[in-house]
Amino acid sequence: MNAVDHSVFLSPGYFIRAAAAPWEKAGAARLRRRVFVEEQGLFQADDRDAIDADCTSLVALSTYAHEADEVVGTVRIHEPEPGLWWGSRLAVDSRFRHVGRLGRELIRLAVSTANGRGCHTFLAHVQAQNVEMFRHLHWQVEDELTLHGMPHARMRAELAAYPPIADPETGFLALAKRSAPPPEISW
Ligand SMILES: CC(C)(COP(=O)(O)OP(=O)(O)OC[C@H]1O[C@@H](n2cnc3c(N)ncnc32)[C@H](O)[C@@H]1OP(=O)(O)O)[C@@H](O)C(=O)NCCC(=O)NCCS
Repeated sequence: MNAVDHSVFLSPGYFIRAAAAPWEKAGAARLRRRVFVEEQGLFQADDRDAIDADCTSLVALSTYAHEADEVVGTVRIHEPEPGLWWGSRLAVDSRFRHVGRLGRELIRLAVSTANGRGCHTFLAHVQAQNVEMFRHLHWQVEDELTLHGMPHARMRAELAAYPPIADPETGFLALAKRSAPPPEISW
């Protein structure tokens, strides 16, 4: 792990994979607290709940010199009954939103991992401001409800859009979005 100033350095690629090392799990927990407690005020002190005891935690890791550097995104998945999977606590560090499609890539690993484990239904309670993003990613609204005082939609993933992934521990590399090329200079 390196202490890189991401305000001046944009990671060229991100590992998207199941959290394995203790620093990855701890980083995911800290990121969730920053986003759901401090930024959104959805929970008072801590966003952890009973699901954390029995879930798979997935992370997006920034890279520095080709090595995993920092947890900059996370989501968790769990299977409360055979074949029924839920995704929750999707969060991308505010400095890394819209830079590497990390939200989309975490959703891809989440649903594809469940698909590889025999999922027949994959659901999530999605905050209202993110419903369009999920629709764009092949999810449909099933219901609308209020959770933690905020409007949410229960949404279902179209599994055919998420081919099974058998080894989430390996995961995949997501590249940073290309920025626009600099304007041509004429002399
Ligand atoms: C929602 C969140 C995870 C998205 O992460 P992100 O890495 O910025 O999203 P991505 O870059 O992967 O976005 C994927 C696509 O959806 C679009 N998108 C992102 N957020 C969107 C939104 N709220 N509404 C509509 N489209 C959105 C992006 O422009 C991108 O489109 P493109 O593929 O055509 O370029 C992030 O904003 C976040 O952590 N927010 C705070 C916590 C939160 O809301 N969690 C989700 C709870 S349901």
